[in-house]
Amino acid sequence: MSAPLLEARGLTRRYALPRQSLLRKPPQMTAVDGISFTIEAGQTLGVVGESGSGKSTIARMVMAFEAPDAGQVLFRGQDLHGLKAGELRRQRQHFQMVFQDPFGSLDPRRRVGWSIAEPLRAIGLEADGARRSMEALEQVGLHPGDAEKYPHEFSGGQRQRIAIARAIVTRPALLVADEAVSALDVSVQAQILNLLMDLQEELGLGLLFISHDLAVIGSICDQLLVMQHGKAIEQGPVGQILRTPAQPYTQSLLKASGVFV
Ligand SMILES: Nc1ncnc2c1ncn2[C@@H]1O[C@H](COP(=O)(O)OP(=O)(O)OP(=O)(O)O)[C@@H](O)[C@H]1O
Ligand SMILES: [Mg+2]
Repeated sequence: MSAPLLEARGLTRRYALPRQSLLRKPPQMTAVDGISFTIEAGQTLGVVGESGSGKSTIARMVMAFEAPDAGQVLFRGQDLHGLKAGELRRQRQHFQMVFQDPFGSLDPRRRVGWSIAEPLRAIGLEADGARRSMEALEQVGLHPGDAEKYPHEFSGGQRQRIAIARAIVTRPALLVADEAVSALDVSVQAQILNLLMDLQEELGLGLLFISHDLAVIGSICDQLLVMQHGKAIEQGPVGQILRTPAQPYTQSLLKASGVFV
């Protein structure tokens, strides 16, 4: 049997809290505490939890932006945090990320075609940049000619499509979406979620989808991980958790999101 697309094993990350005394070591907090999960090709894992529960910290470790203090991130069986810098750079084309705020990730002074091609330049594939960014624009439902425009010429939803185009331009196998629709109106949220699901089907993407909103997560994921204070307090098939949440915390998230079961 081949290795899963992505496997997290006992991921743990601690941060130092502000020092309380010059004589003592600064206290630590555990932002992510022994989290394990797998994502297969074509599958979506949703991660839900309140602000500060550790969701983005998981994303940063999965993307190898930040190393865990304990545990492993295995991408196709390979420990990402054990790779040499050059090898990690080459692997990056296979896992890409979409953030909440596309304005933060799109350079306002650059044409969007340039920004979409950025991940290609990072791996030395810039020769193909123009063609592939136009192709990616079409894949996200925009026009190839939009490559010539600037970010301010697009709506919030369109900018999020551009951010998705940039994430798929390297033809990744895994997409990490951290609150990717949280800043959008509900109707636009639905369009972007549909786009992500269509792309997933078309490209066989594995998806790690992070949201504080259970209503959003429930509509898109297969497996669900419920986080509280860095711990996985509930984990399993999404239908089962939404129908019979075992934890009062999950029940309160359900109530807050207006998902009635
Ligand atoms: N670089 C850092 N240094 C110190 N503490 C950090 C750092 N990054 C995150 N934390 C702390 O770790 C905890 C988890 O943060 P994280 O950003 O992962 O939460 P989150 O679930 O993504 O929250 P949100 O829904 O607000 O995005 C928080 O208490 C946060 O303050
Ligand atoms: Mg976050």
